[in-house]
Amino acid sequence: MQTLIDPFARAISYLRVSVTDRCDFRCAYCMTEHMTFLPKAELLTLEELDRLCTAFVHMGVEKLRITGGEPLVRKGIMTFFEAMSRHLASGALKELTLTTNGSQLRKYAADLAACGVKRINVSLDTLDDAKFAEITRWGRLSQVLDGIAAAKEAGLAVKINAVALKGFNEDELFRLTDWCAAENHDLTFIEVMPMGDMGEVGRLDQYWPLKDLRAQLASRFTLIDLPDRTGGPARYVRLAETGQRVGFITPLTHNFCESCNRVRLTCTGELYMCLGQEDMADLRAPLRASADDAQLEQAIRAAIARKPKGHDFDYSRQAVKGQMTRHMSHTGG
Ligand code: GTP
Ligand code: 5AD
Ligand code: SF4
Repeated sequence: MQTLIDPFARAISYLRVSVTDRCDFRCAYCMTEHMTFLPKAELLTLEELDRLCTAFVHMGVEKLRITGGEPLVRKGIMTFFEAMSRHLASGALKELTLTTNGSQLRKYAADLAACGVKRINVSLDTLDDAKFAEITRWGRLSQVLDGIAAAKEAGLAVKINAVALKGFNEDELFRLTDWCAAENHDLTFIEVMPMGDMGEVGRLDQYWPLKDLRAQLASRFTLIDLPDRTGGPARYVRLAETGQRVGFITPLTHNFCESCNRVRLTCTGELYMCLGQEDMADLRAPLRASADDAQLEQAIRAAIARKPKGHDFDYSRQAVKGQMTRHMSHTGG
């Protein structure tokens, strides 16, 4: 079957699937404290998500990342991972992975490894108990660290994702780096994006440009640029002194949209062609309209044909541009 190519000649080989908009944390930059979640009846069933993902795999998607909300709080989610592992076995899928807050890893790490997951991304912005409780509102650091330990025991490679937050984890740059070196985790920093109306929290106040963070890292380490690509937008360096890998995801200071290879599916069957644009295509109607996939495939191709060039996030004029009304938990980052 013909693979998916967008109007800018970018091949779409990476699908991110948000299996739930719910989460057991309430990270301050991601959600408001009192979020309204989708009624459960709105969700696609795991069988429907399977059919959708399988259609994408048949159309050339090679990397599948399960996200949320927190993907591991969706009931029965391991059945879905087991089902997806058949695409690894057939060779159609090169990578099956997830982005998680780590809270449920003690329970699921071994099962994930058994489904062929090799590498996971865990969101962790601070190693300080009190700050962790403050930023996640509902989370406990010890539970996440234990989850990460469980992942390691199960043989999963762990990449830590830290959102760079001015005045919050600036003072932990070296602490996070040292801990990741000691634990053998890759570490990636992310610039905070204007997703969701956070009310009182000003994005500009939170914004710590990664070029500044990078300069601080360079004051202690020798940074060697790496050609490594993990399929996502991160660009990596190796720290010569420790040998560890550190990545930078820079939607604000360096736009990476020209090499975008991904689209995002939500738990209700909306397909977002860009994280930073409002346009989406409903795949639930064509999915439910017929038991064969012809209409669905047509809807997917039509959606890819209108994938935009990129996002419009910009803070450079001391104002937030490109703000999205939906929260990150809607599309899973
Ligand atoms: P790997 O490279 O496989 O580790 O994955 P990844 O970086 O694609 O996945 P991850 O879930 O760790 O993504 C980290 C974060 O990067 C996301 O949660 C988003 O915040 C951001 N990100 C990923 N893709 C895009 C994108 O296309 N545009 C923008 N603006 N941000 C993105
Ligand atoms: N800007 C940047 N990253 C964010 N994340 C959540 N909200 C934002 C935001 N506004 C990150 C989480 C997690 C990933 C799914 O997205 O920390 O690592
Ligand atoms: Fe939950 Fe992740 Fe959002 Fe935090 S960033 S509230 S862990 S979905």
